[in-house]
Amino acid sequence: MVKINTCVFISGKGSNLKRLILNSNNYNFPIKIKLVVSNKKNAEGLRLAKKWSIPYLILNKNQSLSENKTLVKLKTYNINLILLSGYMRILSKKFIRLFGKSIINIHPSLLPKFKGLNTYERVLKNKETKTGCTVHFVNEKLDSGKIILKKFFYINEKDSVASLKKKTQILEYNAFSEAIIKVIK
Ligand code: GRF
Repeated sequence: MVKINTCVFISGKGSNLKRLILNSNNYNFPIKIKLVVSNKKNAEGLRLAKKWSIPYLILNKNQSLSENKTLVKLKTYNINLILLSGYMRILSKKFIRLFGKSIINIHPSLLPKFKGLNTYERVLKNKETKTGCTVHFVNEKLDSGKIILKKFFYINEKDSVASLKKKTQILEYNAFSEAIIKVIK
C-alpha cells in the first residue's frame, strides 16, 4: 500500500502519537510517520520517536525561525500530511499557507463547543451532559476547520476533570486513526 508521508507535532506525553505509531506499523494503515516535531525539548513523547527511530525536530521559542526550519524539514522528508497531536502552539497563518497540504488536529471537546484551552473545566462548569473529542482540518482560525469526525460519551455526576480527560483520551486514540482512514481512503 502507498502510504502518505506524515509528520506528527507534539508538546507533551504523546499517548496519541504512540497509538499512531503502532497503527502506522500496520501494513493497511495509510500513513508512514517520517518525522516528529516538538516545541518542548522535554516532551515525553520524544521518547517514542527515539524508541521507534523516527527522526525528530525540537523547536525553540522563536516561532518564525522554528516554522522556517520546520518547513525545510517537511520538504526534506517529502511530508504530505501534518497531524497535530497535542501540539500546544498555534501555527502561524503563513506556515499553514506555505505548507499548503492537509493539517489535521485532535481537540478534546465536541467542537464547535469549547474551542481553546481548559476544555474539561469548562465542560463541567457549563453542566454539559456529554463531551468527547473532535478531529478536524486546521485552518487559519483556532479549532474552526472542517470537522472530520467526533466521538462522545455521557457525563455523570461523579465525573471530574481527571475522569473526563481519561475518558476523552480513550476515545481520541481511535478517533484520530479513524479520521485519517476516512480522509485518505
Ligand atoms: C489530547 O487530549 C489532545 O486532545 C489535546 O492534548 C492531548 C494530548 O495528549 N490537544 P497526548 O500528548 O497525545 O498524550
